[in-house]
Amino acid sequence: MPKTMLDIKKIRKDFPILNIKVNGKPLIYLDNAATSQKPRQVIGAMADFYQNYNSNIHRSIHKLGEEATLAYEKSHKKVADFINADFEEIVFTRGTTESINLLAYSLTQELNQGDEIIITQMEHHSNFVPWQQLAKKRNLKLKFIEIDGEGKLKLEQFSELLNKKTKIVSITHASNVLGTINPVEKIAKIVKEKSNAYFIVDGAQSVPHMPVDVKKMGCDFLAFSGHKMLGPTGIGVLYGKKELLERMQPFLYGGEMIKEVTFKDTKFNELPWKFEAGTMNIAEAIGLAAAVDYLGKIGMENVMRHGKELTNYCLRRLNEIKEVEIYGPKERSALVAFNVRNVHAHDTATILDGEGIAVRAGHHCAMPLHSVLGIPASARASFYLYNQKEEIDSLAEAIHKVIKVFK
Ligand code: ALA
Repeated sequence: MPKTMLDIKKIRKDFPILNIKVNGKPLIYLDNAATSQKPRQVIGAMADFYQNYNSNIHRSIHKLGEEATLAYEKSHKKVADFINADFEEIVFTRGTTESINLLAYSLTQELNQGDEIIITQMEHHSNFVPWQQLAKKRNLKLKFIEIDGEGKLKLEQFSELLNKKTKIVSITHASNVLGTINPVEKIAKIVKEKSNAYFIVDGAQSVPHMPVDVKKMGCDFLAFSGHKMLGPTGIGVLYGKKELLERMQPFLYGGEMIKEVTFKDTKFNELPWKFEAGTMNIAEAIGLAAAVDYLGKIGMENVMRHGKELTNYCLRRLNEIKEVEIYGPKERSALVAFNVRNVHAHDTATILDGEGIAVRAGHHCAMPLHSVLGIPASARASFYLYNQKEEIDSLAEAIHKVIKVFK
């Protein structure tokens, strides 16, 4: 694989927060799987909206209203192009969690008692709890694809779980703990061959890090968040095939999702507005578009390559430390979850924080997976396009400090 072509020093200049000090040390931000940092292009686009054309969308005939509407609709188009979808197929939500809740709510009318939903043991709570609660409420069966010793899905077991009763298969593209990248194209084919189920992909940890093409992927729906891909919080995306979104019930009812309201009934708006009720997160949509522009300029192939390089380097450095246990397969997305033997992950993270290094520690919103791994918690270093190898060297050094403290 060719080496990273990214000019990291130049990229880092776009992220003001990377200049701050934490606990007297330069910030080393390795918590990108929880949320990424924002470049000045994103911060600037949002400030520009509030300072120069703040207005509600789709309602006002005045100049500002028109400008805001244009920018908001352009954001839909940019996000659609980013994942090779059509304009009508992109619904803005608050994040991955809301996108999946939307599906769990809107698809419920198509489900009958005894129908089956398949997810995996490695889902984070966003793609776990909505299905678990729906199954309880509607008397459905929730089944789990297991993981093997390496942290990969047991696909032969998946084929056995699938049958004519399966109505929904919802799987993460990339695990937020193991880093496992699931073969979603292959899974889509199996789902379509063996069932009539909807195939949903949770792209929270993949869309920010690799080129994603929904047509190639063969999914029916894809959910992801803006804040993990340089965008602001409070904006997420649900992609859905047009014909499916068309026949689904809206999730939220109210203003703007309507075409006509009478005392008797309501005609819903066309796609995608049917699913966007009330005043939307306009500034956030504009911020997300700026994030997509930024990533597009750098190129998702380059982002992926850089992530792989850093991850492989991190695996190498941490594998050199015999007290460190690493979870997940060798081939993975841009993160490494680990524990220092006999040290709680929170203690590890606290000592790292003292060195200015931000990692996440805990169950990473994936408690069932941690129970399968047989651990209460782990520490996780996760990378993005502005991280550099020197920061991983500092992480390794700080881990030696953890070991010393707890000797
Ligand atoms: N699911 C997000 C994470 O992995 C919040 O940190």
